[in-house]
Amino acid sequence: MSETPLYDAYRRFLANAGTPFTVPGHKRNPALTDPLLALDVPQYGGVEDRRVSTRRLAGAERLAGELWGAKWCGFSVQGSSHGNEAIALTVGKPGDKVIVARTLHKSLFFGLVLAGLVPVWVRPDIDAQTGLTAGMPAGRIRQALREHPDARAVMLVEPSYVGGVSDVAAIAAVAHEHGIPLTVDAAWGAHLGFHPELPPHAIQAGADILVTSVHKHITGFTQSSMVLVQGELINLERLEAAFEGLHTTSPSGAIFASIDRARGLLQDRGEELLGNAIRIAADARARLHAVPGLGVVGSEIARRCPALLMHDPTKVVLSLYGTGADGQVVADLLEQRGIHLEFADRDTFCPVITLADTDETVDRMVTEVIRAIEEHRGPPRPLVPATAWTVVPDTVMSPRDAFFCAHERVPAAMAVGRIAAETAVPYPPGIPALAPGERIQAEVLKALQAEVATGTRIAYCGDPSLATVLVVRE
Ligand SMILES: Cc1ncc(COP(=O)(O)O)c(C=O)c1O
Repeated sequence: MSETPLYDAYRRFLANAGTPFTVPGHKRNPALTDPLLALDVPQYGGVEDRRVSTRRLAGAERLAGELWGAKWCGFSVQGSSHGNEAIALTVGKPGDKVIVARTLHKSLFFGLVLAGLVPVWVRPDIDAQTGLTAGMPAGRIRQALREHPDARAVMLVEPSYVGGVSDVAAIAAVAHEHGIPLTVDAAWGAHLGFHPELPPHAIQAGADILVTSVHKHITGFTQSSMVLVQGELINLERLEAAFEGLHTTSPSGAIFASIDRARGLLQDRGEELLGNAIRIAADARARLHAVPGLGVVGSEIARRCPALLMHDPTKVVLSLYGTGADGQVVADLLEQRGIHLEFADRDTFCPVITLADTDETVDRMVTEVIRAIEEHRGPPRPLVPATAWTVVPDTVMSPRDAFFCAHERVPAAMAVGRIAAETAVPYPPGIPALAPGERIQAEVLKALQAEVATGTRIAYCGDPSLATVLVVRE
């Protein structure tokens, strides 16, 4: 068994917690509200001692850094959202350009606002057959850097929310030819690189910095994540200041300990457990494939889409349009039957399969998905690619300028042609379809309103019905 210094300290504290005169104010007194309070241990004054040392945390971060092959590692209790913002504050200064995948998560978008960076957007390919994002060609990054040789970083999302992985090594080489770092949002890729059938993780592929959610594909508590750095192109002093500056001063020791434990599990049994997840996901895809009209994305997407190096073999992505079933209705029914899907809109399902699954859990999910689709089968619909993947932005102001200038809220019909001052983010996957600084296009607004009508949640805007939109006052 590998060492787990932080997790061990957490267990020791729970075994002998003493009488706390510290926060949290609930004092782990189960009589007060709930026995769950007993597990809530603060990092400082709990897992670490009262002198607020960071010795145990540093030990656990070092072990994670070694496992991923990174020279620096930072644990976070604020999700990959925190890492994305810290990375943006590290790679440049206000006014600097960065080459960014337009399929970025809203947290990186707000990182651009915080840091005052000016994005040069690059768009991944779209797979005509599924309407899904299908990889970033290295040549597109080369072209963007030819046109913007003053860019300070290349910033990608790998793997995509739907499991596609681009040739990160080739893109890292292009960035390094220009002497700039490649940053990778690998929120959905904490398991990559830990089984021979999985794509390499971004540090193995030569990226300079990655952020990953330990709570998404491996076994950390919700909100756990980490940032990993290699090479000399990332200013570590700046990163540490940004990372600490944006981090809560009261991190949960339980969340930190869960990162240490997740790393230990991956190190000791990752290949075995991931091998299991890969096999179970392949079996699930084979069964789902037999359902008439149901599109099932697997490794073949990487064969037909040249910008994809691989498709994550643990991913199951389903296209429902050919079955005629309405995904929102089917997902509600599944929820009533105890099956909760990570992503479900009218046309697409992404049930997350991880190393925690068993044949039984996935068998039940597949059986129930098939049953619910059959109960709601209808005439096939045409494929409508999600707005988040397909938006072609018309950027007229930097995200920061648009965020901070004077705004007004106007009816949607009057917003067309105006500059957006807020994000409108179909969630998941959390990619801004409207974003501050971009001119609002009639077709994007119409497509978003159509998504609202089918039951998709549009997040992070003042009016989620999109009857009105916040725009820059001109
Ligand atoms: C690509 C991507 N990056 C970052 C995040 C944010 O991760 P977290 O929820 O851990 O803050 C997400 C969340 O879904 C995501 O999809």
